[in-house]
Amino acid sequence: MDMKKLAGDKAATYVKDGMVVGLGTGSTAYHMVNAVGEMVKNGLKIQAIPTSKATEAQARELGIPLLTIDQVDHVDLDIDGVDEIDPQFNAIKGGGGALYREKVVATLAKQVIWIMDESKLVDKIGAFHLPVEIAQYGSKQAMAKMEEYGFHPVLRVRDGKTFVTDNGNFIADLHLGAGFDIEDVREKISGIVGVLEHGLFLNMCKRMIVGCASGEVKVIENPAK
Ligand code: 5RP
Repeated sequence: MDMKKLAGDKAATYVKDGMVVGLGTGSTAYHMVNAVGEMVKNGLKIQAIPTSKATEAQARELGIPLLTIDQVDHVDLDIDGVDEIDPQFNAIKGGGGALYREKVVATLAKQVIWIMDESKLVDKIGAFHLPVEIAQYGSKQAMAKMEEYGFHPVLRVRDGKTFVTDNGNFIADLHLGAGFDIEDVREKISGIVGVLEHGLFLNMCKRMIVGCASGEVKVIENPAK
């Protein structure tokens, strides 16, 4: 049973004719994009904004009509994955390094759906590292400030090289531990020169769609939205 596919396929059913849709990034979003591509082949009329170069390539291949972020003033529905989420709908994202574009699109969206397998549901976020996108220029100084705050930053490396985002920046992964003080970290991180964006997505979604090992797909509505 592919829990990520269960969630991705279910989320695609919320996409309707005429919508401007944010297409997320990652292995769960991948299934959702495939399902939306299938719907487009069958006549669904939408326009979509991809949240990464990888998703853009996938959507293009599937024939999903695309817009750039500068061509829209709103997004009707954004569907994306998460790395961890708590019962208050506070999420960590950016495991795939696309957090900046993901946050721009989610912030513009009238409705946000997070999709995941059940392992992403946690009591308190923070066991997963918190990704922070930082400018290359001055990255050493930004990392030093994070270290001074006790955030244990590690510069992300992929295939033996420093990871570079779609925006040409680095990622610092903060090792905070479950139950860290979310507000305190958010405030301190936002104040560091060189930080473009962090992977805290706090109470942004209207619903979570969770694929479970049992084959069940849970839809959890956010009462605050
Ligand atoms: C990418 C993300 C992803 O949505 C997040 O990492 C979840 O990925 P996956 O669905 O592959 O587990 O934030 O920047």
